[in-house]
Amino acid sequence: MASDVVVPDEWEAVFCTLRDRGSGTVYVVGAADRGKTTFCRWLTAQLASTVMTGFLDCDIGQSTLGPPATVGLALYRGSLDAPLSTYLRFVGAVTPSGHMVQELVGALRLKERAREEGAPFLVVDSPGWVVEPAAQEFHVRMIDLLQPDLVVGFERGPELEGILVNFRRHPRVRIIEYAAPPQVVERKRDWRRLYRFQRFSEYFANAVPQARFLSGLGVHGRMPESFRDESWRDLLIALCDAEMMVVVLGLVDRLDLVSGTLTFRAPPHDAHRVATVHVGSLQVDLSSPPGRVVQGSRPLSGRQSTLPDENAHAPAPRVSPASGAQAGRGRSVPDQYG
Ligand SMILES: Nc1ncnc2c1ncn2[C@@H]1O[C@H](COP(=O)(O)OP(=O)(O)O)[C@@H](O)[C@H]1O
Ligand SMILES: [Mg+2]
Repeated sequence: MASDVVVPDEWEAVFCTLRDRGSGTVYVVGAADRGKTTFCRWLTAQLASTVMTGFLDCDIGQSTLGPPATVGLALYRGSLDAPLSTYLRFVGAVTPSGHMVQELVGALRLKERAREEGAPFLVVDSPGWVVEPAAQEFHVRMIDLLQPDLVVGFERGPELEGILVNFRRHPRVRIIEYAAPPQVVERKRDWRRLYRFQRFSEYFANAVPQARFLSGLGVHGRMPESFRDESWRDLLIALCDAEMMVVVLGLVDRLDLVSGTLTFRAPPHDAHRVATVHVGSLQVDLSSPPGRVVQGSRPLSGRQSTLPDENAHAPAPRVSPASGAQAGRGRSVPDQYG
C-alpha cells in the first residue's frame, strides 16, 4: 500500500468493525475517481494482515488485477505483495452495459471461490458506471446477488442515492457513505483509454501465435455476425477451463471455418485445461496506442474498435462490413465523466 494514502478515521472504524465481526463481504460503489480502489486496497491490506482476505475486482474498465474485460479475484494473507492465488472470469467488454449477465455471473462465481478457499473477508471493487438507470440497475443487482454485509458508497453529493435507497431498509445490508477524499486525482477519458491499452499491452507482451482445433470445445459469447476476416481479427477471446475460469486471453488472427481452426496470439498457457472459448465484444488493436479522441469523431488511429469507453452504452449489434455500416466498436462515445 502506497504510504502517501491518506486514511481518514472513518476508514479505520470500518476495518475495526469488520475485524471484530470476524467475517464479511464489503461492496464498494462510486463514480469514477472517487477513491474506491484506494480504499479497497487499503481495507484488503488491513484485513489480510491477520486473516485470508479476498479482493474481488469487478471494475472491468479500469481493472487492477487482471487485464480489462475481466473480473478478478486475488486471495491474500500477510501482505498484498504476492497473492496466494488469483482467478479471472471473462466478461468480454470494458463496460457492464450489454454484458451484465457475464459480469454478474463472474462476480458471484468468484465470491463462491473465495469462500471455498476459506477467505472470511471479501472486498469488492465495482465499476464507476453509476449514473444512468441501467447502471443503477446493474449495481442494485450486484448488491442483491452478492449480498454484502456492508456497502460503502464514495460520492460527491447524492449521486448514489438511486442505488443506495433500494437497500436502506434491507435487514442485513448496512450502508456507509463517504465523501470522496480531497486527495483523489481525477483522470480524463483519454487517460483511462491509455490505461486499458497499457494493461492489454502488458498482458500480451509475451504472446505467441497459437492454433486450436475447435472440435470438442464449447464456443460461446458474442459472435460477430460475419465470418469475414476483418470481423474476427484482433477479437478478444478467453480460453476457459471446465469451470469457466480464464486459462488465458487471446487475440484472434483468423477463424478458418473449413478446417475448424482458430489461430490467435496468447501468452504461454496449459492448453490441456481449455474446455471453452468465450468470444468477447472487443477488437483490441495493440499496434498503435489510442489516438486523442475528439468528441463525436472517430479515434485518429483510424482503425475500428480498439478500446472503447467503459462508460459507453451497450455496443451496437455487429454488422457485416459488407452491409456498408461499420460496427459500433471504436466510436467516440460521450463519456459521462470525461
Ligand atoms: N485516500 C487517498 N489518499 C491519497 N490519494 C488518494 C486517496 N484516494 C484516492 N487517491 C488518489 O486518487 C487516485 C484515484 O483514486 P482511485 O482509488 O483509483 O479512484 P476510483 O477507484 O474511484 O476510480 C488514486 O490513484 C490516488 O492517487
Ligand atoms: Mg478504481
